[in-house]
Amino acid sequence: MSKILIMDHPLIQHKLSILRDKNTGSKEFRALISEIATLICYEATRDLPLEEIEIETPICATKTKVLAGKKLAVVPILRAGLGMVDGMLALVPSARVGHIGLYRDPDTLMPVEYYCKLPADIEEREVFVVDPMLATGGSAIDAISQIKKRGPKHIKFLGILAAPEGLEALKNAHPDVDIFVAALDEKLNDHGYIIPGLGDAGDRIFGTK
Ligand code: PRP
Ligand code: URA
Repeated sequence: MSKILIMDHPLIQHKLSILRDKNTGSKEFRALISEIATLICYEATRDLPLEEIEIETPICATKTKVLAGKKLAVVPILRAGLGMVDGMLALVPSARVGHIGLYRDPDTLMPVEYYCKLPADIEEREVFVVDPMLATGGSAIDAISQIKKRGPKHIKFLGILAAPEGLEALKNAHPDVDIFVAALDEKLNDHGYIIPGLGDAGDRIFGTK
């Protein structure tokens, strides 16, 4: 059974309000996506295993803990997922980065895959799939199915806004995947956009509309 965490941290809620505002421009939008990604990453890495080591402080010898060499990979779903990568790497700088290119057909809302490049040793890694928007869930479900074919150790999905429909679909399709999102919105509109949402995340990150 997957773990689902809707973040309710005041810093995230504040940043989300600016992100949703249609008057927020691309430069600030990109910075906010990255900052929120860092905050979600902090929570999604809470269960990373630790090991004890011995060090010497300037005062004395002591036992202390470090990450137990767990290998991580960040896989953004293009395009909008790219906006979350730097924020993730700020906390886990040695993670490898894969890419999955998907776009949603505007008529069918079904994901269309156009690119996939994953780390060669992905089967040794825990994978963080990142995409700001979980709308119908089709893109995340498809991306995770592709990654699973390569046999990674474990997968977590990190998003910013989710619609109830997408959350339910992802949970049902991949019950072993833990899901972390900054907010759960009300619903989808007839065009598959999240309400109230923030509009088209890719277009707002890259200024393409
Ligand atoms: C957006 C978003 C997700 C997808 C979510 O990508 O970044 O990948 O839609 O929708 P879904 O849950 O219904 O699949 P989009 O297809 O607009 O491509 P882009 O990121 O290249 O703009
Ligand atoms: N993709 C987006 O970028 N925004 C939505 O609201 C839904 C899908």
